[in-house]
Amino acid sequence: MPLQSEPPNVKIVIVGAGSVGVTTAYALLLSNLASEIVLLDIDTTRAEGEVIDLSHAAHFAHAKVRVARGYEDCAGATIVIITAGVNQKPGQTRLDLVKTNYRLFESVVPQVARHAPDTILLVATNPVDVLTQAAQDLSGFPTERVIGSGTAMDTTRFRHELGRHYRVNPRNVHAVIIGEHGDSQIPVWSLASIAGMRLRDYCRQAGVEYDEAAMDAVAQRTRGAAYEIIKRKGKTNYGVASVLVGIVEPIVKNNDAIVTVSRVGIYEGVGPVALSMPCKLNNSGAHMDVPLMLDDVEREGLRKSAESILEALNSARN
Ligand code: 2OP
Repeated sequence: MPLQSEPPNVKIVIVGAGSVGVTTAYALLLSNLASEIVLLDIDTTRAEGEVIDLSHAAHFAHAKVRVARGYEDCAGATIVIITAGVNQKPGQTRLDLVKTNYRLFESVVPQVARHAPDTILLVATNPVDVLTQAAQDLSGFPTERVIGSGTAMDTTRFRHELGRHYRVNPRNVHAVIIGEHGDSQIPVWSLASIAGMRLRDYCRQAGVEYDEAAMDAVAQRTRGAAYEIIKRKGKTNYGVASVLVGIVEPIVKNNDAIVTVSRVGIYEGVGPVALSMPCKLNNSGAHMDVPLMLDDVEREGLRKSAESILEALNSARN
């Protein structure tokens, strides 16, 4: 009996061998979800260095790791993860990156789509919602096959913060952030729950105070997390890499897990626009069949978020 089961025949290409790309490659390698991981970067020397280093870690896993010779190596990929692009500097918002990264996508996405017409595109480059929509336009793929990491990251941070506040394992906190992966994101307080109880009910049952100001601070720390990290270390990589693996897993395992990811749709009458809502993930992509019951404030927040993403997209196109 082998100690670990062999990974299925799954090829994953990562475009961009910067810190998000290589941390994702490393996390994927250790997850045993892929049989082949291919790094594609304009700087092939750097990508080669990363692959040599990763291949020593591959000793402890199953996947083969290699450098792409060019976009033709996207052929046959189950998923192509796009992490290439400039990233936020201290003080910049994600939307500040829009023009530069949009131009980059105009050159990257059509080449990926040409060589891997059946793949699922998973976008991590910021501003991720705008670029998810750009990737869908530029690839011509059906909307379910173009997914942005979106607020899966913020949702993870939100659960972490709520878990810390209530001293509960984040796995037992159900709460989502929807809308933009950015400043207009919306915490869905009306549906947040711990151990199956809405927050206020949990507080009543547990005999703890429901503290409105503390909840505002939780939302603020969630929204501001990337700024705080970037202020200190200049980038974020571990959180987003883990989130990307968390999106790859239900696609590869075809298990219909619900994850808050970005994809193009019509939201509160606005669109088409890419933003995050909980989606069912399986081997045909991200499906919007998880209709949330939002309250009026949350619906209005979602509408505003959709409008601000569309505005950024239009500014990048012009
Ligand atoms: C993050 O939230 C910067 O979008 C990146 O970690």
